[in-house]
Amino acid sequence: MVSLGNDSLLCCLIGAIILVSQQYYISTSRELSRLLGVCRAPVIQHFAESLSGSVSVRSFDQENEFVNTNYNLSNDFSRIQFHIAGAMEWLSFRLDILSILTFAFSLIFLICMPYGIINPGIAGLAVTYGLKFDGIQTSFIWILCNLENKIISVERILQYSSIPSEPPLIVEDNRPDHSWPSKGEIDIVNIQVRYGLTMPFILRGLTCTFPGGKKTGIVGRTGSGKSTLIQTIFRIIDPAVGHIFIDGTDISTIGLHDLRSRLGIIPQEPIMFQGTLRNNLDPLDEHTDEEIWEVLHLTNPSSDSVTFFIVLKEYFID
Ligand SMILES: Nc1ncnc2c1ncn2[C@@H]1O[C@H](COP(=O)(O)OP(=O)(O)OP(=O)(O)O)[C@@H](O)[C@H]1O
Ligand SMILES: [Mg+2]
Repeated sequence: MVSLGNDSLLCCLIGAIILVSQQYYISTSRELSRLLGVCRAPVIQHFAESLSGSVSVRSFDQENEFVNTNYNLSNDFSRIQFHIAGAMEWLSFRLDILSILTFAFSLIFLICMPYGIINPGIAGLAVTYGLKFDGIQTSFIWILCNLENKIISVERILQYSSIPSEPPLIVEDNRPDHSWPSKGEIDIVNIQVRYGLTMPFILRGLTCTFPGGKKTGIVGRTGSGKSTLIQTIFRIIDPAVGHIFIDGTDISTIGLHDLRSRLGIIPQEPIMFQGTLRNNLDPLDEHTDEEIWEVLHLTNPSSDSVTFFIVLKEYFID
């Protein structure tokens, strides 16, 4: 005869097995959910890039390249989904077996009870409810596991919120004059720049002066740090050591907006944004058409380029 003590012991044992399986599954599925998030972003990003740049992709005859990259990224994403489905099946299988075992032992317990201890109607009702136990237990465990997986999104938000933010856009106590920089002299004093605390220095103790009102060329092999220097002047990365002075003002002491709005940059890669040429030249709409024309003429006053600009004016700007 199956005693009540033995049956409760069995229930505890089955409960413990469920908990162990759940913990085993959760540590795997948590990592898989993280990987899924990491693999999802490139698919979306590549798709959006391909859509917005479809004209350029076609004009350079790179459709196959983009289609292949898309396949590879989708495969990486699907691979993780496949593993997630596998892990889910692993847990489902074990939960089903444990539910069936619990149900079977409950039935044996009911059957083995001495006659008259339990009302047959109540026993029948217990068996009917026991049939549903399988589904209830499985969905309960699933909800717990899903909750833990979804909490990863909160974890990512926490990670992002702990990323150090940029220095202030405006430092009220130290705002440069309206006319700054009037000369454009850049004085670099012993700067050392690196992209991360654990990374090697790219610029090591650079000291030089770019005189104002002159054209200065910086040459160097690829990877020598030319773009890094420009990024340091714009304070996209701050130097670990040293200072940069523009017309005598230490750029590390003023706000980012004050600094960046007073400097201009023509990027190495020719990039144009969607919109008219005028939008691209003056995205913040701060200058008049006449001022823009003046600058265009100053950049290259040869007769050919002037004709080109006049054509542009007729078709794009107005
Ligand atoms: N965002 C980044 N994170 C880490 N390292 C970087 C980063 N950008 C550049 N580097 C490294 O810094 C070094 C200098 O790169 P940088 O882009 O400044 O060279 P460059 O002189 O502009 O080259 P190029 O002539 O090819 O434009 C390289 O070794 C590069 O790998
Ligand atoms: Mg560069």
